Amino acid sequence: MPDGSGPQRSRLAGRPTTPAECVIVALDAASTEANLSVVTRLSGHARWFKLGMRQFYADGQTVIRAIRQAEAQLFLDLKLHDIPHTVATAIESLGPIHPELLTIHAAGGPAMIEEARAAVDRLGLSTRILAVTVLTSLSEQDLSVLGVVGSTGDIAVRWGRMAVDAGAHGVVSSGHEASRMRQSIGSEPLIVTPGIRLPGDAAGDQQRIMTPGEATMAGASHIVVGRPVIGAAEPLDVLGRIFTDIERTQREMGRRHPQATDSGKIA
Ligand code: C5P
Repeated sequence: MPDGSGPQRSRLAGRPTTPAECVIVALDAASTEANLSVVTRLSGHARWFKLGMRQFYADGQTVIRAIRQAEAQLFLDLKLHDIPHTVATAIESLGPIHPELLTIHAAGGPAMIEEARAAVDRLGLSTRILAVTVLTSLSEQDLSVLGVVGSTGDIAVRWGRMAVDAGAHGVVSSGHEASRMRQSIGSEPLIVTPGIRLPGDAAGDQQRIMTPGEATMAGASHIVVGRPVIGAAEPLDVLGRIFTDIERTQREMGRRHPQATDSGKIA
């Protein structure tokens, strides 16, 4: 498989430079053993793993140890949402784990986001805070029942901008909003995009999917891929195809905007 060390994409601090650094494998398998097996099979190839609340609450430490042994980075997808002080103290408790990425809910508001950012800075953590905007499970009607008026896309972009202004290092965004999100938040913040499928993959329960290359072209700095990799008979082959798709897109972007790869501005 390709090693993912394609052309440089961005020289901004903390931004991925190779396809492998853009791809986050979601450890959503049904058991700790199954997730450990995914980490072992992809060790040395996947640079990122995402751990959600199910595995974290079940036996997160075991899987985190395996991720660290594989010298991969940890995206802890806990979607914290509480009063600012409680979120800050939760981040203190996560300090020893030192995840490279951590999610909080943008709906917690600017004060919560500011305190979350202040907590990682105070603790000297390199953890980058990602804001989750509108859950894709919420329809426009659900939002209006909650008193939030507007299209889900508009609300997601508005909350994403608010979160970055309050100190979040980036946002989780559907690929379909990534381009507008990028325009709104600028070139530096991270945009992490789930709902990724290679051409010909089953969509599963994801309604709106994009290929790795399409998401990259739309402005995503990272993509999250779960079932297409962890459910594959040959996960390493699928990972290699994902790297190739991103690498091809990066080359295309470099051709269209040669100054982008020079200046680090990709949006
Ligand atoms: O298996 P699949 O590639 O669909 O996994 C996507 C991962 O991204 C899952 O861990 C899922 O929880 C997460 N996610 C998502 N859609 C969102 C937010 C997160 O699929 N809107």
